[in-house]
Amino acid sequence: MTSKHSVRERIEKLVKDLNYHNYRYYILDNPEISDAEYDKMLRELQKLEGENPEFQLPDSPSQRVGAKPLDKFKKHKHKTLMLSLNNAMDDEELLAFDERVKKFLETSKEVGYTAELKFDGLAIELVYENRILTVGSTRGDGETGEDVTPNIKTVKNIPLHLSDKPPAYLEVRGEVVLTKRAFAKLNEEREKGEEPLFANPRNAAAGSVRQLDSKITAKRPLHFFAYGIGETKGELFDSQYELLKKLSRFGIPVNEHCALCKNIDEVQRFFKKIGEKREKLDYEIDGIVVKVNDFRLQDKLGTISRSPRWAIARKFAAQEASTVIEDIIVQVGRTGALTPVAKLKPVHVGGVTVKSATLHNQDEIDRKDIRIGDTVFIRRAGDVIPEVIKIVESKRHKNSRPYKMPKQCPECGAEALKDEEEVVSRCIGLSCPAKLKEGIRHFVSKGGMDIEGIGHKLVEQFVDEGLVKKFSDFYTLTEKDILKLERQGEKSAKNHIEAIEKSKHVSLDRFIYALGIRHVGEHLSKVLAQEFGDIKKLEHVKEDILIKIHEIGPEVAFAVSHFFNEPRNLQEIHNLLHAGVKSIGQKKKTGGRFEGKTFVLTGTLPRLQRGEAKRMIEAEGGHVAGSVSGNTDFVVAGSEPGSKFDKAKELKVPIIDEEDLLRLLKGS
Ligand code: IVH
Repeated sequence: MTSKHSVRERIEKLVKDLNYHNYRYYILDNPEISDAEYDKMLRELQKLEGENPEFQLPDSPSQRVGAKPLDKFKKHKHKTLMLSLNNAMDDEELLAFDERVKKFLETSKEVGYTAELKFDGLAIELVYENRILTVGSTRGDGETGEDVTPNIKTVKNIPLHLSDKPPAYLEVRGEVVLTKRAFAKLNEEREKGEEPLFANPRNAAAGSVRQLDSKITAKRPLHFFAYGIGETKGELFDSQYELLKKLSRFGIPVNEHCALCKNIDEVQRFFKKIGEKREKLDYEIDGIVVKVNDFRLQDKLGTISRSPRWAIARKFAAQEASTVIEDIIVQVGRTGALTPVAKLKPVHVGGVTVKSATLHNQDEIDRKDIRIGDTVFIRRAGDVIPEVIKIVESKRHKNSRPYKMPKQCPECGAEALKDEEEVVSRCIGLSCPAKLKEGIRHFVSKGGMDIEGIGHKLVEQFVDEGLVKKFSDFYTLTEKDILKLERQGEKSAKNHIEAIEKSKHVSLDRFIYALGIRHVGEHLSKVLAQEFGDIKKLEHVKEDILIKIHEIGPEVAFAVSHFFNEPRNLQEIHNLLHAGVKSIGQKKKTGGRFEGKTFVLTGTLPRLQRGEAKRMIEAEGGHVAGSVSGNTDFVVAGSEPGSKFDKAKELKVPIIDEEDLLRLLKGS
């Protein structure tokens, strides 16, 4: 039996090692062990602590998962006030701050600053005594906050134990933030659970930290960034920049975006640079914080009514504004998706004029009850298309009506369909100009009509030059047409026309696939081909017929029947057939032409791919074998046939070519 003493030693070792690995993972971003190894050690620790609760250490990482819920938070009085910041809303106010600092210090020389991000989260203070995290508290009113220690211990990048040589007593101040992604996910979950939504990541971070049940906090991906200190005993620091570097050495997370600036001009450059990076950051910031770097100068400057004279927040311009929706238009994307867009009375937001905002889809419009004529709040997030946040109900016109998306595609007039599962509606028109390029790329692709040599670039040229407005236009192209395009010579024009000609012979499944019907990929194209055997049989097909087919679900039946009932599509299929496209059916039938017959394929066939020929034979009830034997009825030989050809000759098996095969298939 293990002695109490050795259990205690093992616990101490595990705590020490786990804290070290935590530091490698969260601070250095350079782990030495795998997650699985970490978990194994953590589980061992949890087990030992469970059996010997008296040995649990205050910096034990087992507390990362949360502790028992509290009834209420204890108060925590900060030893020194947690200050707030004055704001500079524009360049002028920032320059005025620099002037004030110089005036107060009675100097005309440049003052050096540290520029940091202004995190939009929740301010907290961490107390480390003899390296160990003992208290985590909120800012509260600056004098007294709430003791949220168990919650703080669940924030994974906050060290429970400091490294290097930290002061014996150290109060670290900083901000807890929630990632934008985690915020979005959290709100999604709350929406499902019909709980009230958090307005922004800051509120969500605050709500997560001020949780009586720390197990809930533990589930939220919170991050901490240190930006300062409160009281310390032991080591002294000379400047803000040096302080940040040292905190980082103690294992305390400090954000990577911070700069030591020689003067206020450099600060302005940093501000601009951060403004450009802002959207890419995974957490919200609302500006930068500018601090006189030298601590002696900070002391001289002092504070005035709870804000330091030595620091200022340079805030970003507001990203929200109110305006009026003058109209709602519908745009059709490359995939045929219809997107409603609000046309706005032009408004300045964050330095640019905004004239439109996306409304996403009908569900979103319904949820926010957005109508033409409404006064709305919009938000602009960097390069992203502005969004309507909410409407101002008090300003709504009496006679306004709910907005409904059109049932027809505004580009081509074909039906716009919405699946039950989906939120967006899509145009199902084959020749819709909005979808053309994407649709044509699919049409000519390998799995479709397989028109060799016609790549993305060429499709672009065909469409832009107006040579191809619908699929069937390919089959009326001439060499002369192609020669009109840039970088096309006589040889390539000839090759393209030949490739187009060759594509006219196509198996039915590839023809169906080429049409680009929603939800109908290569496999379902085969299913449909085998079931119907002829494109004509699909025209006007009803959903209730389709749904009976094995492998076809309601969604597919819905899409397929609508597709083959749209007059514009039927016209285009007709155009293709008229232009000479021959889709060869593979209807599965008993008593087919090749019932009981065995074929062997060898060499390269001029038009059909091997898989295709096989499917055609099988569709007529025939069997395709891999080798020639006495039982073989036909060997189909293409160019450069292999040993099977010789074997066939030897066994006197009839040898036919592709032409013969196609003739046999047609029964002529
Ligand atoms: S220094 C010395 N630095 O902004 C003044 N504060 O109104 C004390 N904040 O609640 C703060 N990022 O939590 C400082 N890099 C940063 C900051 C920052 C965000 C918050 C802070 C405080 C508020 C100030």
